Amino acid sequence: MTHEHSTYRLALVGFGSVGRGLAEILSLHRRRLQERYGVDVRIVAVCTRRWCVYDPGGIDAAALLQSAASGAVGGWDCARAWSADEMIASVDADVLVEASPTDMTTGEPATGYIRAAMARGMHVITSNKGPIALHFAELRRLAQERGVLLGFEATVMAGTPALRLGWSDLAGCEIQEVRGIVNGTTNFILSAMERGMDYASALAEAQRLGYAEADPTGDVEGYDAAGKAAILANVLMDAHLTPMDVEREGITGITPDMVAAATAAGERWKLIARVWRDAQVVHAVVRPMRLRTDHPLAGVSGVANALTISTDLLGDVTIIGPGAGGVATGFAIISDLLALHRMRKNREPRTEN
Ligand code: HSE
Repeated sequence: MTHEHSTYRLALVGFGSVGRGLAEILSLHRRRLQERYGVDVRIVAVCTRRWCVYDPGGIDAAALLQSAASGAVGGWDCARAWSADEMIASVDADVLVEASPTDMTTGEPATGYIRAAMARGMHVITSNKGPIALHFAELRRLAQERGVLLGFEATVMAGTPALRLGWSDLAGCEIQEVRGIVNGTTNFILSAMERGMDYASALAEAQRLGYAEADPTGDVEGYDAAGKAAILANVLMDAHLTPMDVEREGITGITPDMVAAATAAGERWKLIARVWRDAQVVHAVVRPMRLRTDHPLAGVSGVANALTISTDLLGDVTIIGPGAGGVATGFAIISDLLALHRMRKNREPRTEN
């Protein structure tokens, strides 16, 4: 099939696990996106806390990855002395990809970046949980007012389309409850501890594999899962919860003895998030639970996550897939971009939500 290409020029804030995952996908599969979907995706700018580069013609993703790994990218000809704010104010790009580290308490500076980009008429795709957990209603309204996309599929279960399943494919149903495993790092650690690995080595491995947050306390103390519970509540159940409203307990209290005791009893520890409506009030809780090994969530191991969405018309629908990782989350950015492309082609309103 031949297509007239639509070009999407991306400006990235952050080049950690997600930004690198996205660059890896583009370095390997840019042609697939062109040939199959008629979409020409170019990274034109990247800004991190240490360096910023801008080339309006597009930056080669493979070269970017290589130079970023060796610390050489700051010395490129197209290097700029821009902060992220300056880049957003000056760059000629179609989409801001906001992938800076999450701050689950303030949502900043990411929320400010998103507001500024939308004010300039840029679409925004974010993997950052802070802005969506804390400011979803405001950002959705801004996107609608500006006629731009706010893409946030990456914020829950990486590229596994859990949010889109809920708000798009299950539209028409009333979602009554959502429960599951929504943090890849802790599920990886608990699974590794079952195999006899100690907690510290398992966490180090999760960090090496790019699953953990920049500050992994967010994962192991349950803040990341609480933020995702707030996102699920607000996006799928029209609630107005913040991560602080979510009753939360992490996995740091789970000892090797507790893991062994669960195994001996035919059970497994899992960090479970649950969001439910009681009368008209939405509640959310994150806490470790012992599940029998024949429980559907007990078999979800390693970095995999799973979510069961309970609806009035369809009953329970469960989705299982990767919950973290650079390429898995970079794919969510691609899926939001392709959704943007479909909407523009169909001349539908450009905000998905
Ligand atoms: N640190 C997060 C996790 C990344 O482990 O699930 C994906 O949101």
